[in-house]
Amino acid sequence: MDSIIVTGNGPLNGQIPIAGAKNACLTLMPATLLSDEPLTLTNAPRLSDIKTMTELLRSLGAEVTQLQDGQVLVMSSHALNNHVADYDIVRKMRASILVLGPMLARDGHAVVSLPGGCAIGARPVDLHLKALEAMGAELELKEGYVHAKAPGGLKGGNVDFPLVSVGATENALMAATLAKGTTVLNNAAREPEIVDLADCLRRMGAQIDGDGTSTITIQGVDRLNGATHPVVTDRIELGTYMLAPAICGGELECLGGRIDLVGAFCEKLDAAGISVEETKTGLKVARKNGHVRAVDVTTEPFPGFPTDLQAQMMALMCTAQGTSVLEEKIFENRFMHAPELIRMGAKIDVHGGTATVTGVERLKGAPVMATDLRASVSLILAGLAAEGETIVSRVYHLDRGYEHVVRKLESVGARIERISGQ
Ligand code: EPZ
Repeated sequence: MDSIIVTGNGPLNGQIPIAGAKNACLTLMPATLLSDEPLTLTNAPRLSDIKTMTELLRSLGAEVTQLQDGQVLVMSSHALNNHVADYDIVRKMRASILVLGPMLARDGHAVVSLPGGCAIGARPVDLHLKALEAMGAELELKEGYVHAKAPGGLKGGNVDFPLVSVGATENALMAATLAKGTTVLNNAAREPEIVDLADCLRRMGAQIDGDGTSTITIQGVDRLNGATHPVVTDRIELGTYMLAPAICGGELECLGGRIDLVGAFCEKLDAAGISVEETKTGLKVARKNGHVRAVDVTTEPFPGFPTDLQAQMMALMCTAQGTSVLEEKIFENRFMHAPELIRMGAKIDVHGGTATVTGVERLKGAPVMATDLRASVSLILAGLAAEGETIVSRVYHLDRGYEHVVRKLESVGARIERISGQ
């Protein structure tokens, strides 16, 4: 397993290009199952999760061609020869459940393994299943698989989500495009990735209104055609690199960054003493006057502060002036980066879903271990600001969601290198 060595060495300056959004691409790719014509995605990120989704779609009989070093994906699923999403692939990546809705909507049957839990929480899929049942799907759980049928096709229905779920909204939205009649999704997720999916589905001929709000209305159509769609910028990669000059000084321009993707996050940066300036090519970020102030953060569904930026924000708060309280309201176990940051000299008290961080003058480099995707990058951010050398092990977590992280940070002055493990 590879490791990454980071040596704290002062301010970073320059430009970092932000890639297409992993969490948009992982729902846009299954959308190809809704049509028998090709769907082309541009600005696709080069990540291991995208490779896993490619492997899953190919296992169903879809064709996936990668062009321009993987930045363009041309997918076609005119003749699926398998409607079973196997446990071996699904357990590697929970987003695999997103093939269920489209496959069921177009072909009337699908068998998908339950994804199982993951490091940050149990992460059930009950809301995905309830939404499809509300559209007339007949579901049966057998030996860890969901067997789904819709013999006469799905019917438009009223779906009331008891809590906001990004994935369940995506599954229901895709399924509803081919259901007979009108579907209304209440308490739907409002993330930019939902809007991006709706934009793509509209290009394919779907009739969707209200995406980006809590109520999405879909008028089912008989079929969807092919399309070409650019994947939206990755707001979590964006927020992550915006924290680099915040945590170690300097000034970075995140190319392709947009304020509307990171509104609540920018409000917290402003309160912490970090300036964010919109430029013609992205977002320019720097400290306002040298030091960073502690701020409190509570994670919420969009447009609130994103849970996927909580670990990275904690790294910044470890060296801020004062004490900050971070509340993780989305997942039940998303503070696994805290013990690793404590190894670097951070002062963090974790009680249930609340972490209290008291800023210290300087962190000290140390060997630390990545536990999940966002925790891994928070350790790299901490290492950029720490005194001495930090060795982050198990960086395969990083490869799931950040393309070329060493190259991008090296290009703006970071002392960082990847060493291959046994
Ligand atoms: C998506 O996961 C993202 N993944 C996550 O990003 C992100 O953290 C999460 O949304 C929240 O924003 C992708 O888009 C591939 P949810 P998802 O359904 O859809 C509970 C990353 O780092 N829930 O919005 O799985 C669930 O347990 C990843 O890129 C149910 O109870 O998240 C959680 O507590 C991590 N039943 C809450 O809802 C369900 O059926 C929100 O989960 C579904 C979810």
